[in-house]
Amino acid sequence: MRHLRPFCNREKEMVQSEVNSETQVSVIYGVPNEKPFFIFGSFYDVALRKKHIFHKIREIYNKFSTPYVGIYIFNQPTLVIRSPELLKKVLVKDFDKFINRKVAANEAVDPISFHTLFSSKNDNWRNLRAKMSPVFTSGKIKLMFPLMKECGSDLVNYIKKHNGEVIEAREVTKKYAVDIIFSCAFGINSYCLKNDNSGILQIATQLVDFNSVKRNISIFCFFFMPKLVDIFRLTFADKQASDYLMNIFNTTMEERRKNAIVRNDLIDMLHNLKENSTDKSDYTFDDIKVAAQALSFFSAGNDTTSLTITFALYELALNTDIQDRLREDIRKHHDAHGDFTYEAIQDMKYLDMVLCETLRKYPLTNFLNRECETKYTFEESGLTIDKGTSILIPVAGLHYDEEYFPNPEKFDPERFSDENKSKIVAYTYLPFGDGPRVCIGQRFAMLVSKVSLAYILKDFAVKKTNSTTVPLQLDPGAIFLANKNGVHLKVDKV
Ligand code: HEM
Repeated sequence: MRHLRPFCNREKEMVQSEVNSETQVSVIYGVPNEKPFFIFGSFYDVALRKKHIFHKIREIYNKFSTPYVGIYIFNQPTLVIRSPELLKKVLVKDFDKFINRKVAANEAVDPISFHTLFSSKNDNWRNLRAKMSPVFTSGKIKLMFPLMKECGSDLVNYIKKHNGEVIEAREVTKKYAVDIIFSCAFGINSYCLKNDNSGILQIATQLVDFNSVKRNISIFCFFFMPKLVDIFRLTFADKQASDYLMNIFNTTMEERRKNAIVRNDLIDMLHNLKENSTDKSDYTFDDIKVAAQALSFFSAGNDTTSLTITFALYELALNTDIQDRLREDIRKHHDAHGDFTYEAIQDMKYLDMVLCETLRKYPLTNFLNRECETKYTFEESGLTIDKGTSILIPVAGLHYDEEYFPNPEKFDPERFSDENKSKIVAYTYLPFGDGPRVCIGQRFAMLVSKVSLAYILKDFAVKKTNSTTVPLQLDPGAIFLANKNGVHLKVDKV
């Protein structure tokens, strides 16, 4: 192990003395670290699908009390940063040194994934982010609100049809999320809620299929074993599904151009970016680059959003007092505005608190990752890390740390009341990440989730039944948080 020499440290003694002697640790060059197991490093039970990465990250976080921990993910030495002060440096203050995610990006093998905001690096990322940020302002998202409302109505009609029955919440919310994102990013109604056999839903599932072992291994390699991505020419998303979606996207773009159609959606904005792109600008959009953005919004947005809505419904079914209070908040603002207007949804403060707490308890991405771009010293401890060091930010660990969120297993929206949220320690609540690389779709995702909950809960109650799994059993094969047997809830008109 020593020959890897991943971390060097000027104040070895100081860091060593902070390690809890009861934990099974060894120290490589001054960084407390988890003993690696065989070729798997710290992630052997994750790789063998015995433990969900969410539990593994919490386990590593809880095992130590030091500001940082060294782990191996396969043969990749990785620095896990636990301290909020150091996280501020990585995410914001010294962002230039940690600008990139440590993810595979190979333009020749997977041009779509290479050109997404998520995988882009250095100046390519800076220029692309500068172009894309105006697409996600509150004003632009407000323009898409009528499209979201249409899907909200379809969702409530679906629930009406199943009144008194047990639904699988994940399946329903996925249809809703695909309908919205397809409508906004591809300019087409996919009608998954209206048509049980929608082909688009199959394509959406195939694109980043979390039940497929092969796809999960590919995604795992993108984050943790980038060299294998090059060797085996792996693609992040399923090639057939992404070709199909690219085709739809290009056809719609062409129609908009020919017929001068304006729909105020993402595709319009991408179309404008491409049309206004000149050879002299810092970033020139071509067909692949614009399609890559639409595809990445689709893959980054649909599972994250639908799972967030699912977990919110699950917690509301278990906490009926919170559900009743939320329904009151929704009805009050709906009636005051006479409809589910954009302003009515923004006024629903308790809805916002419920969603923030859902994202605290169920941080879908579990961790953030960055790569150190240069030899770097954390002045506070004297720890120096080499260029290329992989950094992992244990979001799941921070969200369940008693010190920051007392009684963390409790679903408690009060943590996010106006009074309490100002007391949350900075850089301990990171469902959308932080700093210049924060999730660009955050506002969009919050609004889409709020619309769904408002439409469902105004006139329907979600209830726990015998088929509801309590507590949840996370599927260790899934990249995001997902319950093994789905989330079964009864819906009743109230
Ligand atoms: C509840 C839903 C969502 C959650 C929890 C979520 C979470 C995240 C997180 C944690 C990151 C990494 C941030 C970092 O590294 O600091 C991220 C990045 C990103 N997300 Fe989301 N996301 C959600 C929805 C969406 C939606 C709806 C879209 C698009 C419409 C989207 C597009 C992106 C993109 C493009 C990035 C990469 C940004 C960059 O590197 O500049 N996300 N998201």
